[in-house]
Amino acid sequence: MNSESLILDACCGSRMFWYDKNNKDTLFIDNRKLETTLSDGRRLIVNPNKLADFRHLPFENKSFYMVVFDPPHLLHAGANSWLAQKYGVLDEDTWKQDLKSGFDECMRVLKTHGTLIFKWNTEQISMAKIWKVFGREPLFGDRRSKTRWSVFMKEENND
Ligand SMILES: C[S@@+](CC[C@H](N)C(=O)[O-])C[C@H]1O[C@@H](n2cnc3c(N)ncnc32)[C@H](O)[C@@H]1O
Repeated sequence: MNSESLILDACCGSRMFWYDKNNKDTLFIDNRKLETTLSDGRRLIVNPNKLADFRHLPFENKSFYMVVFDPPHLLHAGANSWLAQKYGVLDEDTWKQDLKSGFDECMRVLKTHGTLIFKWNTEQISMAKIWKVFGREPLFGDRRSKTRWSVFMKEENND
């Protein structure tokens, strides 16, 4: 599929971190669509432009200038907890391969020298483990808080 958008949010959830949740340059995807009330009473709306799996992105190579990748970061969370509903939960058996496939797909659909913004929370899985799964480290990113933003660039021959 060809995309007219400049930016891909590869698992947008409820678009919490976006200042403009309908940014016109961005294609918002997620593998679920739902509207519900969380166990703590807040409304949760996940309404992607397109339903898609970040492990098999339906876009051609080198489609986007920027990709944002903020996958689920929890292995353990109560099935009906608001954390699980809002952020999703990793599969205990396949999480490494799922995240690696997601990262590789995000890189594939980036244009050469495009930027990949990766967000992670170290509550249950350390940053060191994630870099091992990805097989590389970012250019830079914050290293102190539990929530980490990291920046990668797609290199010339990294299709
Ligand atoms: C941490 S949340 C994203 C939060 C979002 N960045 C925000 O600001 O609200 C992770 C999201 O990944 C989605 N997700 C999980 N597995 C996925 C997959 N294989 N493909 C696409 N989205 C997936 C979940 O549905 C969930 O909405």
